[in-house]
Amino acid sequence: MPDVEPIGAIMVYYSPSVTDQEKTMDKIKVEICCGTACYLLGAANLMSIEDEIPAEFRDKVEVEARTCLELCEKENLGGAPYVRFNGEEIMAQATNEKVLARIEELVGGAA
Ligand code: FES
Repeated sequence: MPDVEPIGAIMVYYSPSVTDQEKTMDKIKVEICCGTACYLLGAANLMSIEDEIPAEFRDKVEVEARTCLELCEKENLGGAPYVRFNGEEIMAQATNEKVLARIEELVGGAA
């Protein structure tokens, strides 16, 4: 017979607020790789993209910096810098112009 008997269980959970969920719903997610290779080959310039997004699209786009997306290992450094859209579509040799054009296409397609 144990000396200590369980008296119950502790449940810990996190539920984001509705506001947090609403903020990320239906947004175009743009992840800029800021790993060393991508950063040195142009991602530093891409970090200004958030300020270049047309005002009417800003609430529809979420821009994030990411650590190495591990594409520089699978592909080659010639593809850097890489940007990922909506968690799956990869753009190689990304430039501000190319990323802005793709954002406009995606936002237009979502409307
Ligand atoms: S540094 Fe960008 S994919 Fe590795």
